[in-house]
Amino acid sequence: MNKKLKDATQRVVRRAGGRIDVGIVLGSGLSEAVSSRIEGSEIPYDKLEGAPLSRLAGHPGIAHVGMCGEKRVIAFAGRAHLYQGKTPDDVTYFVRLAANAGARTVILTNAAGGLNPNFVRGDLMLIADHINWTGATAIAPDDPQPFLNLVDAYSPRLRSLAHVHAGDRALREGVYAGLRGPAYETLAEADTLRRLGADAVGMSTVLETMAARKMGIEVLGISLISNVIGPAQAPSHEEVLEASRAGAERIASLIEGVLAAI
Ligand code: HPA
Repeated sequence: MNKKLKDATQRVVRRAGGRIDVGIVLGSGLSEAVSSRIEGSEIPYDKLEGAPLSRLAGHPGIAHVGMCGEKRVIAFAGRAHLYQGKTPDDVTYFVRLAANAGARTVILTNAAGGLNPNFVRGDLMLIADHINWTGATAIAPDDPQPFLNLVDAYSPRLRSLAHVHAGDRALREGVYAGLRGPAYETLAEADTLRRLGADAVGMSTVLETMAARKMGIEVLGISLISNVIGPAQAPSHEEVLEASRAGAERIASLIEGVLAAI
C-alpha cells in the first residue's frame, strides 16, 4: 500500500472509532439523504491523503464516517470520473480506501440513463452485471495476477437482501453500461447498447467494481434511473440531479435496510 493511502486509512479508522464495515459511494445528488442517516463526522477530501479532488455540481467531496444503525460506515459524497481526466487509480481510490479501512462490502450508487423501454424515471435498478465501455481497466499494468474473474461481480446475495428491503416500489434489476463520457451517448450508441443487452447507461461504477472484486470485496450496485433515453428526451445534468434528489430518500432507506441485514 502506498504511504498516502496508508495515512488516509489510519485517519479514517481513527475518526470512525474503529475499522469500517461498509463503504458507500454516493452518485450525483444522492449525498444528503444518505449522509443524514450517519451518526459521526465529516472528512473533506482535501484532508484525505492522495484523494482525487473534483468540482462538479452534485459532487461535494466529503467523506462521512460513523455509524448507520449497527454498522460502521464511510460514505463518499463525490467520486472521481474518467471524464474529468482522472486516472483509474483516482477513480478507484475511495473503494480502495474503504477496503483498506476494513470494509468487506461496498455499496456503489449512481444516476443512470434508462435504456430498457420498461423503465421509468425514478426507478431504482440493482446492477446485475456491467458492460465496461470506458476503454479503461482498474487492473494495474504491472499486476502479477491480472486476470480477474468478474462473474457475479455484483453479489447475488446482496441483491436478494436488497429486494427484501425495497419498500413498496419493486426494484428493477439489469445490466449497467459504463461509458467514459462526459458527452451523453448518441441515440445510435444508446440503441447499440440496448441491443448488446444494457438496461441503463452511466459514467461511473464499472472500474470501482473491478477494484473491489480484485480485493475480494462484495459489491452492491444501485442505479437511480434519472432519465429515460429516447429521441424526445435528451438528458441534461440538471435533470439528472433533480431526479436524483427526488429518488435519494428511497435509495437511502434501501441502503439502511441492507446495512441492517448484512
Ligand atoms: N447517460 C449517461 N450517463 C448518465 C445518464 C445518461 O443518460 N443519466 C445519468 N447519467
